Amino acid sequence: VSPHPVATPGFRYDAGRLACAGVDLSRLADALGTPCYVYDAEGVRGRYRSLTGALAPLAPLVRYAVKANPNLAVVRLLSGLGAGMDVVSLGELERAWLGGAAMGDICFAGVAKGDAELRAALDGRHSPLLHERRLTRGRDVAARGPIGLINAESASEIERVDAIARELGVVANATIRLNPGVSAGANDKVRVGEGASKFGLPPEDVLALARRCGELPGVRFRGLHMHLGSQIADLARLDEALGAVVELADRLDAAGRPVDVLNVGAGVAVSYMGEPAPSDAAWAETLARRLGPRVEGGATVMVEPGRELVAQAGVLLTRVRHVKRAGTRTIVTTDAGLNALVRPAMYGAAHMVWPAVCPPDAAPDPIAPPDGRGLARADVVGPVCESSDVFARDRPIPPVERGDVLAVFTAGAYGMSMAMTFNDLPMPAEVMVDAGVARVVREPQGYADLLAPTALGLAGGREIGGL
Ligand SMILES: Cc1ncc(COP(=O)(O)O)c(C=O)c1O
Repeated sequence: VSPHPVATPGFRYDAGRLACAGVDLSRLADALGTPCYVYDAEGVRGRYRSLTGALAPLAPLVRYAVKANPNLAVVRLLSGLGAGMDVVSLGELERAWLGGAAMGDICFAGVAKGDAELRAALDGRHSPLLHERRLTRGRDVAARGPIGLINAESASEIERVDAIARELGVVANATIRLNPGVSAGANDKVRVGEGASKFGLPPEDVLALARRCGELPGVRFRGLHMHLGSQIADLARLDEALGAVVELADRLDAAGRPVDVLNVGAGVAVSYMGEPAPSDAAWAETLARRLGPRVEGGATVMVEPGRELVAQAGVLLTRVRHVKRAGTRTIVTTDAGLNALVRPAMYGAAHMVWPAVCPPDAAPDPIAPPDGRGLARADVVGPVCESSDVFARDRPIPPVERGDVLAVFTAGAYGMSMAMTFNDLPMPAEVMVDAGVARVVREPQGYADLLAPTALGLAGGREIGGL
């Protein structure tokens, strides 16, 4: 069985040189510097079309999970294709709106929404961008209207939503998040659907809260939210969780709290190392089997895919700093590490790493980890002072030298969005390639920008008065 591709078709090796939509990535790294993320716009479009095509019989509302890749160029691209947005903070909400999503097409998840976040979500006059003309470019923040849906997670949150909505003179549409009690996901850091996780509520509590919504004039109960977890490769687990959703929806209907929205969370897993991943068609079939009858009855299905739309449409470019021989091992050290891409350190995730320029016969086509026969093995590690800062351990890789550019594939999701400046390493740049043209969509962070916010410390600090 040939391995599954780990990058969108826009990424390919041409005579041993990696290009994105025709743009040579080694040259791009020379021009802009590294580390640097590169996104394939047409790849994102292709993923979106595949997903919406497969799911068409359910006519779902697609809400892109902004957390996967919040770059405004990505958000704008997807909202331009018709996606709404799924956000988990006021920062993401403002990005979704800035990126072109109508407020009515945004849904807001998260276990700890704050009052200021709810206020801005329900009334643009409370947006932190109200006077930020440079960002809003003439669009009227104050008139943007209330958010489409709040995915509530607790009784306490619903009471706050009601109080704030009444204060603002609006009614908030809300779903309640069910914890389906199904354990799925590669490791305990991403298992969010099992009973012991902090997310959602068990069915009895959802029922009680839905009833309570009937007494709250500021809240309109719309239905259920369920998110089993990210990178779910086992559709049987999803099927089980959907079963719990439908069962609870039936009970809510019977209790006089009709369910007209069924938000079923994330998209499916993607291939990182050539392993098989569920197709959109298989995902759609799983959803249709459980939710089809409800859709026929007039309910609306909502999905919140992030990773599967953008993961394979991004690579991280990093430059080799040193090739270190340590006993029998070869250790390739690079200028990007867990500061730029934390998934390997945080989740034990594996990404394919390959030189951006390699002998033509070592260039994988399509891009997937080759069997590595005849290649020496090396560790590829970042600059951060943590032993977990390792991109690849004992992996076959064509010979590389100091100064070579490496591509870390499948880095378009949960890459830049989780990047940090640990060890005082500046944030990477981001580039979007479209129709053969590369454009910077986030400038590389300079050292002055990195250091400026703490310069107060040199001048004695700013006193907080009135304490
Ligand atoms: C509530 C919610 N919806 C959607 C997503 C997106 O998941 P994915 O990127 O796997 O599609 C997440 C991510 O964990 C999430 O927490």
